[in-house]
Amino acid sequence: MPNFKVVKSAPAIIALILGVMILWPTSSTTTSAMMFDGVDTTFKTKCASCHSLDGSGSSPVGKSMKLRDLRSAEVQKQTDAQLQGIISKGKGKMPAFEKSLGADTCKALVGHLRELAKKK
Ligand code: HEC
Repeated sequence: MPNFKVVKSAPAIIALILGVMILWPTSSTTTSAMMFDGVDTTFKTKCASCHSLDGSGSSPVGKSMKLRDLRSAEVQKQTDAQLQGIISKGKGKMPAFEKSLGADTCKALVGHLRELAKKK
């Protein structure tokens, strides 16, 4: 009964295909999560000391500097170019980061700020 054999092995084949389908997106998600993690880590190490991890600026340092919540409408209404300019060139007590991080990372950080605002 060859047909029976095929039917019997079908679940195994389906399981294999499902396994590949499940594993495949997982591995690509990991890659993009790692890329996202790059900016994430930069924000954590270079920015969170003043702005807090969530961008709220609610830490004692942030409060003492009277930082605006980076997720707030006042900050978010600025264009990508304006925000990148502040990160790159600095503003008041805000250090300039273009020299140490490079223009691309400053741009990516703007993207990170937009993501933080979405998560609020
Ligand atoms: C030493 C503390 C400090 C660090 C570190 C710091 N900032 Fe700031 N940041 C400030 C201060 C102070 C201001 C307010 C500047 C002003 O308006 O005079 C500011 C303002 C900003 C603004 C503009 C917000 C607004 O009110 O319009 C952005 C965007 C920003 N910072 C992003 C970043 C990013 C991204 C990093 C990391 C690469 C970072 N900051 C690191 C202190 C800091």
